Amino acid sequence: MSDETEPTELSRRALIVGAGATAAAVGGAIGFRAVAGEQTPATGVPALGAQQAGVTRPAMPQQHCLVVVADLDTTALRTTLGALGTQIALMTDPSRGLADLTPDGPGDLTVTVGIGPGALGASGHSELATLLELPEFAGDAALPADRRGGELLLGVNASDPTILEPVASWLMEQVGGARMRWSEFGYRGTPVEGVGRNPFGYFDGIIVPRSEQELRDDVMIAEGPLAGGTICVMRRFRLDVEGFRRLSPAERDATVGREQATGAPLSGGARDDQVDLDAKTPDGALLVPARAHARAAHPSFTGSALMLRRSYSYRASDDDHGHLFISYQNDVQTFARTQLRLDETDALMAFATPTATAAFAILPGMRDGSDLGASLF
Ligand code: HEM
Repeated sequence: MSDETEPTELSRRALIVGAGATAAAVGGAIGFRAVAGEQTPATGVPALGAQQAGVTRPAMPQQHCLVVVADLDTTALRTTLGALGTQIALMTDPSRGLADLTPDGPGDLTVTVGIGPGALGASGHSELATLLELPEFAGDAALPADRRGGELLLGVNASDPTILEPVASWLMEQVGGARMRWSEFGYRGTPVEGVGRNPFGYFDGIIVPRSEQELRDDVMIAEGPLAGGTICVMRRFRLDVEGFRRLSPAERDATVGREQATGAPLSGGARDDQVDLDAKTPDGALLVPARAHARAAHPSFTGSALMLRRSYSYRASDDDHGHLFISYQNDVQTFARTQLRLDETDALMAFATPTATAAFAILPGMRDGSDLGASLF
């Protein structure tokens, strides 16, 4: 690495100019559902803490992401993770920053690092690799090898999309033996009272764990070398938006199980209400149809916990655009059981084709002075 290419720390002047806004943003508590202004604060999502940034912080996901799925030299894993952690802490710290990458400061940049089963094994914890085992879902057999799995996940998220590319590229330079599998830019709809719409035009991410208790119970890993981490399932789905739009508006609502305009369940109530799976018309028809997505995905059928969905939309080309499904849960079976059920009974899946699939262990957060991934070694 030459000195010319190495990003330099932000100048002291930039530090002083930005200091007021930074202090306000870091000091202000962020409610899980941010409503005022509809945006996450423009500055500072701390990288240090019991958990990595980007899973539950910021409360409302940033509007842009760059997902990178790669392989790496697992014999250099410890060094690579240490280097990634150091750079992430530096580049997201508004009082330091890396001026070549984020000349106007980091804003709400977060970088979330996950590792795959081979890397977990190489860390000396092969027993943990089973935490990431996914069965084969409908359509997976057709995927090229590079689109199934991966040993390194970098989730780079920010309100400002222009910083994503340089940040990801700099971080990939830190990775020993890096080999790119795939990457994708994602965007989220402008949130309305905390929830945005997906490319089908429906509010997405309504029913997710929100309280501290739910996040502790269902999302974060409580014990062992991954305590403070979680499991990320990443599935890239090409969506048949044209086909979906050929349905009548009533058929579309029936496919999702919620009204497009308001997001309210077809069983009644307001947008943020749960669907009532038993509600029927006077002549006995289910209000949330038998094959509706919201019914098929409902945790009550699989006995699963809630998954934290923080999905993005993407557009790679004219005929490849859709949904980057991203969920966090502390038990991969929460996802697996749900996807298996969707494959069997969900009318929405007729409009979704998987184009990549992987599960990653999201590493515990970095404490001040500790290396990323330190608890694994
Ligand atoms: C393929 C593209 C997908 C689209 C466009 C999509 C869209 C939606 C929409 C619009 C909702 C209703 C609003 C909400 O609660 O967020 C929803 C709910 C949900 N989806 Fe998906 N989804 C997709 C894939 C998946 C997958 C792969 C899973 C998991 C295997 C999943 C799990 C869920 C769950 C758990 C709910 C909440 C159900 C409830 O408790 O009411 N979705 N999704």
